[in-house]
Amino acid sequence: MQHTPDKASRSIPPGTVCLEDYQTHAREVLPHDIHEYLASGCADERTLARNSSAFDDIAIHPRILNDCSKGGTHCQILGQDFCHPILLGPVAHQGLVHEEAELATAQAATLMESCMVASTLSSVTMESIATKLSGRKWFQLYFQRDRQFTLELVRRAEAAAYQALVVTVDAPVNGARNRIQRAGFSLPSGIGEANLVDQPAASQQSLAAGQSIIFQGLMSEAPTWRDIQWLRTQTSLPILLKGVMHPDDAVRCIEEGLQGVVVSNHGGRCLDTVPATIDVLASIRAAVGPDPAVLLDGGVRRGTDVFKAVALGADAVLIGRPQVFALAVAGALGVAHMLKLLRDELEICMALAGCPTLDSIRPSALTAQR
Ligand code: FNR
Ligand code: LAC
Repeated sequence: MQHTPDKASRSIPPGTVCLEDYQTHAREVLPHDIHEYLASGCADERTLARNSSAFDDIAIHPRILNDCSKGGTHCQILGQDFCHPILLGPVAHQGLVHEEAELATAQAATLMESCMVASTLSSVTMESIATKLSGRKWFQLYFQRDRQFTLELVRRAEAAAYQALVVTVDAPVNGARNRIQRAGFSLPSGIGEANLVDQPAASQQSLAAGQSIIFQGLMSEAPTWRDIQWLRTQTSLPILLKGVMHPDDAVRCIEEGLQGVVVSNHGGRCLDTVPATIDVLASIRAAVGPDPAVLLDGGVRRGTDVFKAVALGADAVLIGRPQVFALAVAGALGVAHMLKLLRDELEICMALAGCPTLDSIRPSALTAQR
């Protein structure tokens, strides 16, 4: 059942010049149900749309004649050096779109000096992904029902030399994924969750009459702040929580001794009608102050979007869907090219806006567009 694009579809199609072009080509090469799984948001997709349109409501206010000749996109996040602030966010089940799955994505990350945040739900193991990542590598953790097994995942990430944990907390239950339901998508039997094969089987507990599959079912296994406190005592890896949208939650993360947050609404796939991430970023940065790591994802498709996120307080951005669209179209080469396009656009934007370094991109570089 694995989708294997034919040879012709593995080279970069002529005229692919921006991330949107990869989405267009991916729609052509992918089976409809898989495309819908990747591309869709939830419910009426208001948040999915807003993640993008909110960037368009912000204009860049350029300054002229600044000396940018010593400029660059270097940055430090969690005390780690990065050549540029564009990371590959965690995207599950990449075997759906390419036979090399996350191994190809990892190769691209290495080639383009990006950091890959490998998903708990990858199609190949985190250890095999790590062998392809010679630069930065972070592991995205989903708490598992069995906390001991969750800890085993953390130990494996440490042993495979991942350098941070990104703990995703905004998806304890799936959103109302209507577009996926309409397309009739379900995970093909050949696409497994390679990291989870040794997970102990769930005990068969049926719900009592009147109990809810959401509250007494799924939410009884979902992590709470207590699990985060426990995790903090179990590892010395830096921890970021992903899915933070409220300044008070961001402050709580720092009070709990975590190193930062990823401002994310899961690409509009969990709860519809929540704000766009770029609309809450500045308030979160203001709440936690200058030191903690604050990253953002959701709708980042242009170098100008990266610039706007940095101006409003992000240390870096994560790219979700475009990496799997590029992977589907042209494998590792496609993902590398996608990253290159975005980085080039960021550099062009910085030069034309008169901001030679990421630090020099201040809120004053933006203005509302109405
Ligand atoms: C995701 N996302 C996600 N997040 C996470 O923490 N773990 C995961 O395994 C996945 N899996 C996943 C699969 C697919 C198909 C998509 C589209 C998204 C969410 C992802 O990391 C990110 O938050 C959003 O995709 C960012 O929005 P954009 O860039 O897709 O607009
Ligand atoms: C998704 C899950 C895997 O967004 O996080 O599809």
